Formats: sequence, structure tokens, C-alpha cells
Amino acid sequence: MVKIFSGSSNKSLANKVSESLNTSLSPLEITIFPDGERRVRVVDSVVDQDTVVIQSTAAPVDENYMELFFIVDALKRSSAKSVTAVIPYLGYQRQDHIFRDGEAVSLDVVIKALVAAGASRVVTFDLHSIKIPEQFSIPVTHLSALPLFAEKINKEDAVLVSPDMGGIRRIKILSELLGNMPYATIVKNRDLDTGEVIAEKIEGKVSKNAIIIDDMISSGKTIVAAANLLSKNGAEDIIAMATHAVFSNGVSSTLQNSAVSKVIVTDSIEIPKEKHFPKLEVLSIADIIAKELATSN
Ligand code: R5P
Repeated sequence: MVKIFSGSSNKSLANKVSESLNTSLSPLEITIFPDGERRVRVVDSVVDQDTVVIQSTAAPVDENYMELFFIVDALKRSSAKSVTAVIPYLGYQRQDHIFRDGEAVSLDVVIKALVAAGASRVVTFDLHSIKIPEQFSIPVTHLSALPLFAEKINKEDAVLVSPDMGGIRRIKILSELLGNMPYATIVKNRDLDTGEVIAEKIEGKVSKNAIIIDDMISSGKTIVAAANLLSKNGAEDIIAMATHAVFSNGVSSTLQNSAVSKVIVTDSIEIPKEKHFPKLEVLSIADIIAKELATSN
């Protein structure tokens, strides 16, 4: 049986995954020194064993990544046969290529560090771009929360909406899962310096009920701009669904006071209590991860 370890970023998801596999998390000592440095120690023997470490690399992104690298390193040095890094939310995925001259490709740097630490495989969810797995030199299993969202969607007089052109592939997959449900796409523009979002126009027909589907919500500006445009174009009930609740500061009141009636996300990132709001519903991806680990280990 594979041994499952958890970093500090999303223990509740890691616990749910291990419960779903009828096991418990293996012990790990994580000490944080007064200067902020971390020390990681694997407690039980993992010699010749397949191991899994679950860590979401959301905020604090750099700390969570460093901790993940240390856990992977500790497992390899303790002679684990393999280390699968389950990274439900892959931090830096929006910096996967050069947008403007002179920029670093941050995602490339963290991938190199992860592989150098000893990870043998990555399992992750709803990546911003389907080309990201190609940037890794180790196998990547790219899972999706779309089937969870499909179960929540009422198709009556409704349309699926991608809030930008980058989400078309996602919306087509969901539409197919729902028996070719109609979909529309918004043409969005974002100012790279200010982060301001403008939803310019909608391509496709708007229905009474609109369901916006995105990979992540950070500032909430994309969802708000899309919902306002949909509302102007006749949508009466607007729901937003996104896999990753990146939720930067201030997003909860932005979304609670917006034109959307509900915001449905997953637990790929642990949402602190103070960021919960009445319109929020959180679905769990734990069973999807457990199923993947059970069939591949
Ligand atoms: C952008 O291309 C992504 O798919 C999301 O729409 C975006 O990252 C959401 O960010 P925010 O909530 O800050 O608008």
C-alpha cells in the first residue's frame, strides 16, 4: 500500500483522500524556525515504498513550494521507491511562458526544482493550459473537476459561458459531458499592468440562466466583468464555477456583492474561514484523487 504524506497547505484535503482510501496520513515532522526556515523529517521507514505527497502550492506560494521540495527530498533520501507529488493547484502555472521581453518563466524554474528534488510523477488539476504537462520531464496526470461541476448543473433554459477565449476548450468538454449543452464565450481583455478586466462582447446566445466556468478565481474581476455583461444581455440567474479558489484579498466581498447568485469552487486550495461568504459552495476533489491513486499505485 502506498504511503501518503501531507504538506501544511491543504491537510483537510489530504485527510479526505486518505479516508477515501481507508488509510491514514503517514507522519511527517515539519518544524518552522524563528527565522522562517523549515526542517522536514520523515518519521517511519519508506524504504522501497511508493509514496505520495499532497501539497497545494497556493499562497503562500513560495513557502508551500519550498516545503514540497523538502518533503520530496526527505522521502528520496529515506530510500522511497517513488514519490508522486499530488499538487491539486499548481502555483506559477500562469507564468508558463514569456509574455513580455525580459520575463522569467517561473513555472519552468519550479518544475526543475521539483524534479531535482526527486519527484517521479505529478498529479494535478485543471491546468491553465493543456500544454503545461509537456514542460515536465516526468509523467504528469492532468485531472479535472469538470465532472463534479456537471453533476451540479441544471440544464433548463441555461447556457455555459467561458469568461475568456482561453476557456473554450474547457467549456466544450463540459458541454459534451452535458449532452452538448449550449455555450457562449466572452471576449475579455486584461491590462497586464493594472490587472483591470474588460468583458468586451459575448459570442453565442445568452439564456435566462448562465453558468460561468473558469479554471480559477483570483481577484474575482473576471467573474464580475463576465456576470455584468451577461446580466446586460438578459441573463437573470448567473452562477460561477471554478476549480481553484485562489482568492486574493478582498475577493469574498467582491463576489458576494456581485451579480452572481452562487460561486461554486473545489477544495484544491484550502479556503481560510475568513474568506468564506454566503454565496460560496465548496465541492471536494478528494474522491477523484483517491480513485487516481488507487488505480495507478
Ligand atoms: C485567466 O485567463 C484565468 O482563466 C482566470 O480567468 C483568471 O486567472 C481569473 O483571475 P481573476 O479572478 O483575478 O480575474
